[in-house]
Amino acid sequence: MHMFDYREGQLFCEDVPVEDLAERYGTPFYCYSLGTVMDHFEKLRDAFAELSPLLCYSVKANNNRDVLSLLARGGAGADVVSAGEIDLAMEAGMPADRIVYAGVGKTEEEMLFAMRRGIHMFNLESMEEAKTLSAVAERLGIVARAAVRVNPDVEAHTHEKITTGRKENKFGISRQTLLDMAPALLGLKGLDWTGLHVHIGSQILSVDPFVLALGAVLRLADELDARGWKMTSLNLGGGCGIEYGENKAFTAKELAEALVPRLKGRGIRLLFEPGRFIVGNAGVLVTRVLYRKRGEVKNFIVVDAAMTDLVRPSLYDAYHSVLPVRNPNREARETVDVVGPVCESGDYLARNREMPRVEQGEYLAVFSAGAYGYAMGSNYNGRLRPAEVSVQGSTSHLSRRRELRRDLQRLNRGKIPFVKMVAAGNDFVVLDASVMEDVVDWPGMARWLCSRQFGVGADGVLLLAPGEDVDLSMRIWNADGSEAEMCGNGARCACQYAYNRGWCETGLTFEALDGKHRARIQEGRVALTLRRVGESRLNLPLTVADRERTVHFLHSGVPHAVTLWDKVSEVDVESLGREIRWHQAFQPDGTNANFVQVKNEHEILVRTYERGVEAETLACGTGVVASSLICALLNLVTSPVKAITSGGGLLAVSFHVQGDSIQEVWLEGDAQEVFSGTIEGEIC
Ligand code: LLP
Repeated sequence: MHMFDYREGQLFCEDVPVEDLAERYGTPFYCYSLGTVMDHFEKLRDAFAELSPLLCYSVKANNNRDVLSLLARGGAGADVVSAGEIDLAMEAGMPADRIVYAGVGKTEEEMLFAMRRGIHMFNLESMEEAKTLSAVAERLGIVARAAVRVNPDVEAHTHEKITTGRKENKFGISRQTLLDMAPALLGLKGLDWTGLHVHIGSQILSVDPFVLALGAVLRLADELDARGWKMTSLNLGGGCGIEYGENKAFTAKELAEALVPRLKGRGIRLLFEPGRFIVGNAGVLVTRVLYRKRGEVKNFIVVDAAMTDLVRPSLYDAYHSVLPVRNPNREARETVDVVGPVCESGDYLARNREMPRVEQGEYLAVFSAGAYGYAMGSNYNGRLRPAEVSVQGSTSHLSRRRELRRDLQRLNRGKIPFVKMVAAGNDFVVLDASVMEDVVDWPGMARWLCSRQFGVGADGVLLLAPGEDVDLSMRIWNADGSEAEMCGNGARCACQYAYNRGWCETGLTFEALDGKHRARIQEGRVALTLRRVGESRLNLPLTVADRERTVHFLHSGVPHAVTLWDKVSEVDVESLGREIRWHQAFQPDGTNANFVQVKNEHEILVRTYERGVEAETLACGTGVVASSLICALLNLVTSPVKAITSGGGLLAVSFHVQGDSIQEVWLEGDAQEVFSGTIEGEIC
């Protein structure tokens, strides 16, 4: 039973039209029915209820977090084959003491990791592995629970690449070898070996191979018992087949009827590791027709999904039904190959398939794709893994986001790409957060990159990433390594960078440490809103350079002091700026210091001493805003105000003044990419 059905010609996943999801999330994407996942899990659990087995869902089939956490909530454990799968299972809420770990090639690091996490049991595949496992356990001062995987030499009658219980397969240990090595195995101090494990293959369509395999391991358990070695657990692996289109599969009840009588009364703890049975028919891959292509001898439907999304047809010649998401019962039919964009003739989802005639732009569903679909995906041909959407009843949500091009770059470390940007004379090294995850010392990194002698040279470093509920999120460090809450010029660069990379449209939202902002991009100029503007203190009498001066203060994202001058060109910004910056009136945070000359009602000249840079800079966005607003509060200017900075940059500030409060403050100015390059060497 699965919950994908057509209602009045429209494919539904539970109560959600699949077409709506395609419109919302784009294609290709996987769509999972969580109701189906639970239904299949419960069918298996109920069929074997008498023996109350531990069902360890095989994570390799589908490691989607929603699927894992749903099963965890239902009481499932996990069958894993790597440390990575332990992480995924535990993060989704599967308790360590329900995790079993199989696989012929566990590394020492993985064993150590699994033991530290406290997993339930290791399934061993060779004597050498057993010795290594025991040594690792001894090092930790623990005893690790283990089962030996038996190779019963049973024919599972499935595809040769997924049969695992024949003597020519790499898996498991034969009866005789196990009997020979049992004394040595029992002598290993770090191991508590009391279980047997068998997994003979996948997509098995008859209960007979299970009966044969069970017979073989039970006989072996009896033989070991006769020698005084009691086996207390038996893991029967996974492998139950499902329906792909036409083929028939047995039910959980039929399997239980065949196995339970043979197991009853043995006092043995039973485990299963089902994968495909639970998720196979709980997922479809949704793709869009890119082109119809007429070949010499064949017709092709070129879609936007490929073997990199679903490799089963290419790898095992597996059959998956492919149907249009709308009106599958149309009259026109044709025989086609449904192929993807990958440069391989083996890249197909269906071959020589008679199916409804579909047109460019239509959505198609590839059925029974919930198991070994996304999980076997790859980035071959620079392709990006698709999105995964989960459905439950009439609700749906994005469960795993589609990969982005920047995800591909992330592993390309060693050479870290950066862009140098300039806004009104302030320069920044701009970095994509997705390639910088390993950096632990951001202050040190910023000091190095900003150094004009030893690094790239800049006033600050911007670290950017597409945001969660905003288009862009930004962090900024000054040249001295201190982190700034916000920087107008930096933020303009950030917005331009995001726009240039397709992260956003011309109207966008971004987040800095001081909160959320809106921005607009127009012909190389960026306008943005500033937050937390308004905490002003006017006419502060301060002693600066042994003279009493009137200083004003306003917080425009960062603190700014403003003094008015007749001729700013004559001000000694370095020494006066430093004095104001450290003045006790502005401690403990300190302040930036602006020196302002009002030219007319709509124009000012501004020079700024910047905290963090500890010198005069060519321009400071928040400084220009603070200067304009102070002048407005003093009734010297009205919106919009043009501000000319010492770098000759032109910034525009617009705002609404209402009594004492200032609203809708926008800062507009240029922002350009001027260099791109790569950072070589170790990052800190
Ligand atoms: N336990 C062990 C030790 C396994 O190796 C497997 C799957 C399972 C359990 C779960 O088997 P299931 O219940 O899902 O059949 N990629 C292939 C299938 C490979 C199966 C690998 N091992 C496919 O797409 O058909």
